[in-house]
Amino acid sequence: MLTKNLLLLVCLFVAGSYAQSKVSVYIYYESLCPDSAKFINQQLYPAAKQFKDNIDLKFVPFGKSSYRTQGSDTIFDCHHGPNECYGNKVHACALYHIQGNSFQPNNTRDVLILEYVNCLMERAQFQAGEFPGKVCADMHEIHNWDTIEQCANTTEGSSLLKNYGDETAKLQQPLKSVPTVAFRQTFDADNQKLAVENFRAALCKNLKPSPVECRNIPGSAPAVASFALVTLLSVILTRMF
Ligand SMILES: *[C@@H]1O[C@H](CO)[C@@H](O)[C@H](O)[C@H]1NC(C)=O
Ligand SMILES: *[C@@H]1O[C@H](CO)[C@@H](O)[C@H](O)[C@H]1NC(C)=O
Repeated sequence: MLTKNLLLLVCLFVAGSYAQSKVSVYIYYESLCPDSAKFINQQLYPAAKQFKDNIDLKFVPFGKSSYRTQGSDTIFDCHHGPNECYGNKVHACALYHIQGNSFQPNNTRDVLILEYVNCLMERAQFQAGEFPGKVCADMHEIHNWDTIEQCANTTEGSSLLKNYGDETAKLQQPLKSVPTVAFRQTFDADNQKLAVENFRAALCKNLKPSPVECRNIPGSAPAVASFALVTLLSVILTRMF
């Protein structure tokens, strides 16, 4: 009896994990980098919306920047100049301060972060006028732009950005390309190449087992078939005992 229940539990567990496979994806990017914008706007954003239950998205807005400390100050040197340092700080502060909107259950913290980062990357490429921090906050009903701006303009922002610098260095030092995409916070050259060309395909390759939405993508296991197999297996095994 005990074995039977245990088996049933194992089967349920396996079936359950099939239904909701999830992978963490770290995105190392820069606020004014055209390649980062192209990747986030065209590849990451649509896929992250479609696979929102399968991705644990982590943005790391630092890229090829560097920093040094001078007394109590942190001085940044950014790949696309000083304006990018400010942009990176806005990203870092937004990632820290954005909160879910309790009046609109669909606007969770994760949803708002994705929308805001996507908007910042797209609009920063217009290169006219100031950094689009406020415009994007207004567009996506993020009500604490004041807090985000104040953070970006003070040592709070420097300290958050410095942490992202350390996190980037942990992956690769120096970072070889921007954007860099690392599943499970681990660099893999094949995944990187595939991810920037076809993020959905890379994601599906890294979701084991892959959800039904992956079925039309070459290289990912057909989820329906494997789910059916597990169910069949559990029925057979339960009958055996
Ligand atoms: C919230 O999301 C659900 C499911 O995606 C959708 O049916 C509903 O219309 C959304 N509500 C609002 C207020 O956007
Ligand atoms: C914050 O810094 C940005 C960029 O340097 C500047 O445009 C903006 O006016 C500053 N905001 C405040 C509230 O000081």
